[in-house]
Amino acid sequence: MIVACVLLFTACSSTGANSGANAAPVAEEVSNVVYKNTFDGTQTDWLPRGGNEKFEYVDGALWISGRTATWNGAIRSFGDVFVPGAEYDITVTVKYTDGKDSNSVVLSTQQAQPGGGDAYVNLKSISLTKGEWKTAEIHYKVPDNAADYPVLLYFETPYKTDDQAKPEDFFDFYIDEIKITSDAVLEPEVPEDLAPLFEKFSFPLGAAVRPDQFGESSIYKPLLKHFNAYVCENVMKQESIQPTKGNFAFGPAEVVVDAAQKEGKLMRGHTLVWHSQVPSWFFTGTGAGGVATKEELYDNMKTHIDTVVGKFKGKVNSWDVVNECLEENGTLRNSKYLQIAGSDEYIANAFRWARAADPSAKLFINDYNIEYSGAKQNGMYNLVKKLLDEGVPIDGVGLQCHIGMTYPALNEIQKAIERFASLGILVQVTELDMTVYSNDGEKEKAADDEIIIEQAYRYKELFEIFEKEYKAGNLDMVMMWGLADKDTWLNDFPVAGRTNYPLFFDHKLKAKPCYWIFVDDSKVPALTPKAAVDMSAFPRISVKKGTPVLGKNDAAWNNASSVAIELESMGTALKGSTFKALWDDKYIYVRVDVKDNVLNCDNVNEYEQDSIEVFVDQNNGKTGFYEDDDAQYRVNFNNVASFNGGNTALFKSYAEKVSGGYIVEVACPLDKISAAAGTMIGFDVQINEADAAGKRTGIRNWSCSTNEGYRDTSAFGIAVFE
Ligand code: XIL
Repeated sequence: MIVACVLLFTACSSTGANSGANAAPVAEEVSNVVYKNTFDGTQTDWLPRGGNEKFEYVDGALWISGRTATWNGAIRSFGDVFVPGAEYDITVTVKYTDGKDSNSVVLSTQQAQPGGGDAYVNLKSISLTKGEWKTAEIHYKVPDNAADYPVLLYFETPYKTDDQAKPEDFFDFYIDEIKITSDAVLEPEVPEDLAPLFEKFSFPLGAAVRPDQFGESSIYKPLLKHFNAYVCENVMKQESIQPTKGNFAFGPAEVVVDAAQKEGKLMRGHTLVWHSQVPSWFFTGTGAGGVATKEELYDNMKTHIDTVVGKFKGKVNSWDVVNECLEENGTLRNSKYLQIAGSDEYIANAFRWARAADPSAKLFINDYNIEYSGAKQNGMYNLVKKLLDEGVPIDGVGLQCHIGMTYPALNEIQKAIERFASLGILVQVTELDMTVYSNDGEKEKAADDEIIIEQAYRYKELFEIFEKEYKAGNLDMVMMWGLADKDTWLNDFPVAGRTNYPLFFDHKLKAKPCYWIFVDDSKVPALTPKAAVDMSAFPRISVKKGTPVLGKNDAAWNNASSVAIELESMGTALKGSTFKALWDDKYIYVRVDVKDNVLNCDNVNEYEQDSIEVFVDQNNGKTGFYEDDDAQYRVNFNNVASFNGGNTALFKSYAEKVSGGYIVEVACPLDKISAAAGTMIGFDVQINEADAAGKRTGIRNWSCSTNEGYRDTSAFGIAVFE
């Protein structure tokens, strides 16, 4: 039996006590009630789930007794009510009257799965006080495959196995009412008879898919023809395919692999070794504290790789053998694998085992944020080079490419492809999507035409690069992370519930401008030229000329005025820090006086250490991405510097701890401009504050509070040279 625990809902509970006299008209009056049973005895459409429970209608409620297992209760199929993909509010009122002072009744769904077995999802565990009615409200999204696999709702009590359950767990309970409302029933627009998108490119174009999308009456069917490669979005991950040790659940993945075979499409395998969506048994064993020894971990990994790769031998063209094994600073991720194995040996082993299990599959190391230059890309380059030198069978690097509308600059992606290909290996773009948001704080947008058109032009430019790189033998294939905006993971990440528009097909599965731009660009309006940036809208400082010697309390600083670093960009950081700036024809000099009582630089991520950052956009381009003249310089209180772009050879710094904080002085090169009186540069100063445990708990900035300054210069303030 397959037990899939997919969270497709958000639940909230109320006691029914919030209907004050001045309350707005309640939902019942405005929304569409699609199902209701008040259990007055006239509508007997619920059945005993175990078969032997006793149903009696008492005082306008259904009384359920005679349960002999926790999963016993009342059940009803909602195949006649639920529209696949639609969202509903479910309100239920329940109570119990005997036994313990508090207890719970659980509302759950049961649904047969495409690969066999049933999935059971607990929608809401309703905590009850003995003898008191409670009303709970649950927001529920019906799975898209519900036409082929109808959903049943049922009431039960918290699950215990038969040998653990006691008679008190089989308590009687009452249901007073269940009501289901929906005010937005999704009706997918039937896609026109469109030309397959993949045919427009020389390289294979694939998409991440779910098994339910292949059902007989799946609304996604018309989209599948646009892609000639598939990857499972979730069901090949460790937690799905080997949820408990030795129990492999291949069914759901097989649905997709079989479809790829039948349709003659390529299949990517994602993923064999990852720190996320991995069950804890992988790392459990006989070592100290119940942690697996290295041998036990390797044993678990090898069995997993042998079995999964072996199972799909000859059917999976490329495997993500290791996923996301790097920190942002380019060192090996501090994952449980690394903690147990102690070195990159676990990565080398994974590749060797995968090669042995299917010598014909291409083996990839996959990661995000390596599509632009910087520490993480360097880390990946050096790791792959080292492993290749050791003879480890790595065939390529996967660039996930979860990108934005402005970052990274597209030539950065091109450089990344060429850089990794220069190692003599393949590059695949493995999880491409383009969020329309530039930061986590941005409010939900409507998909207004302009942004969707801009997106189309950016996709076009990007795919032109892909064409070139494919023809040059550097790029192997491109995979989209999903079929349509309707169900992209970005609707829930990194901001839960924020609707996003990153893919080729929209929320109604209709082709978007980014589809048409490749198929018939006469359907895509020209871009509205961007208005010139209004420079008067940015915070400004005036900077005097001067050449201070760093670390000497140079008298030159006396000329510069002190500027407060006040914007709270994240959490809390002590108030009162300031900076001063001076310029000459080679540098902008910045002295930061940081107020901070607890200094810590234990974190492996430099940006989490007590440190200052200076952002310099020499041509004041205000671009949504980093150009060659843009840089982020970071220095911690021990004078350890780290960089993102910039001329690191010319950069200089000094740091000193002082009572109540620390001082940092830096000289940031002005090597891309001829600085003169009147020059304006994009500029910001930031303080990262760590707590005693080494975690960053606060950020303050002078001019830009988006926290996107590491890849987007458009909100930096301006420094004007006097
Ligand atoms: C995401 C899936 O899209 C979601 O459905 C799931 O809840 C979490 O994982 N990098 C990866 C993918 O390698 O596996 C992730 O997929 C997205 C980020």
